[in-house]
Amino acid sequence: MSNRMWGGRFASGPAEIMEEINASIGFDKRLAPQDIRGSLAHVAMLGKSGILPSADVAAIEDGLKAVRAEIEGGGFVFKRELEDIHMSVESRLTEIVGPTAGRLHTARSRNDQVATDMKLWVRDTIDSLDEQAAGLQRALAEKALAHAATVMPGFTHLQSAQPVTFGHHCLAYVEMLARDRGRFRDARARLNECPLGAAALAGTSFPIDRHATAAALGFDRPTANSLDSVADRDFALESLAAASICAVHLSRFAEELVVWTSAQFNFVRLSDGYTTGSSIMPQKRNPDAAELVRAKSGRVIGALTGLLIVMKGLPLAYSKDMQEDKEGTFDALQALSLCLAAMTGMVRDLEPNADVLARAAGSGYATATDLADWLVRELGLPFREAHHVTGRLVGAASAKGIGLEELSLSEMQEAEPRITDAVYAVLGVENSVSSRTSYGGTAPDNVRAQATRWLTLLDAPSAAA
Ligand code: ARG
Repeated sequence: MSNRMWGGRFASGPAEIMEEINASIGFDKRLAPQDIRGSLAHVAMLGKSGILPSADVAAIEDGLKAVRAEIEGGGFVFKRELEDIHMSVESRLTEIVGPTAGRLHTARSRNDQVATDMKLWVRDTIDSLDEQAAGLQRALAEKALAHAATVMPGFTHLQSAQPVTFGHHCLAYVEMLARDRGRFRDARARLNECPLGAAALAGTSFPIDRHATAAALGFDRPTANSLDSVADRDFALESLAAASICAVHLSRFAEELVVWTSAQFNFVRLSDGYTTGSSIMPQKRNPDAAELVRAKSGRVIGALTGLLIVMKGLPLAYSKDMQEDKEGTFDALQALSLCLAAMTGMVRDLEPNADVLARAAGSGYATATDLADWLVRELGLPFREAHHVTGRLVGAASAKGIGLEELSLSEMQEAEPRITDAVYAVLGVENSVSSRTSYGGTAPDNVRAQATRWLTLLDAPSAAA
């Protein structure tokens, strides 16, 4: 049997493989709510514009609502021969209301319909990702406030560099998430033009009101060029790009959690809720959730790359290639949502091991820069010379296998005779972090102020970032 939606000029139906490669219903059925919402806006506009009589509009509206109820109730049967969600809904509508259903597709095509549906889905999804990212920011800012003064080693090259505080480290991710949320908002602002009414590619000869459908669907305005309207998937690409960067941030944090929870580091403890055991090694507490967050960034980046490659050679306007936008976009944004949820849970529950962190913060000559700064500040040495003197002291201490603060004053004075015992005050890790009061620095007071600023911002009604 030929397709009952477009099969007028076809004598026979598609080959089995044709049907299989062509069908998108297996994955685009999730667009049902958006598809029906779009159709309701379209048919109402057709009525108001005098294109359809109000009796037809009412019949179609009732029918669409009945279809929606069937889908929501799980009683709807999706059939592969109907290809996609648009034809599945219309076909069922026809069964319910009869031939009047055929008027719904006046002044519309599946090309503008699918672009509209996808935009609505992506818009809803990035709104909820933004909310989840705000939740993770809140969890991190709360941890930061609780651990504003908990010292830990700060790293460069994964080598102990200078002491920082655990709260400061948490707030670094709050900043990254703020940029992620900014990118979602930017993508949303550009996305928010309605393609409905562009029809197949050229617009329509019917006197439609695109401003009305745009407004009914919560868009800022209709798209201005009909070719671009049906050929554009920038909104999916931009959202995937924003999602990829966010996923990379989460992956970096996940990597830190994996390293930090190892017995060798033992910096933090994840809760039982976010670790798993080994079936053979009873001592193990594996950070599986963090590992999976790290891994899932691959799917998100893969979806972005995949869709860029799908789009890169397409002439205007619509090509069926664009049907391949869906699975990757659905999967990637869903994966990111799961990662955000898992990270939020892990952060809420995790506890830094303050003793271990303090010990590690003091090792590796992490306060060498503080010593050099002291030589500059108190003795007026040029920084380069202070760096050199400090290097000799680090060498002396490391030759004896002791910390800088364990060198005697006379040993210090061998490197620089003007050193006094006031130097010992800057060699402690606590002194080091509290001295970093420059804007954005790790001093506990700074961290407390920043964490509080974030918590206030996040609690504001707009949850601004
Ligand atoms: N299922 C199609 C898609 O997702 C809908 C648009 C089909 N348009 C067409 N001219 N065949 O892209």
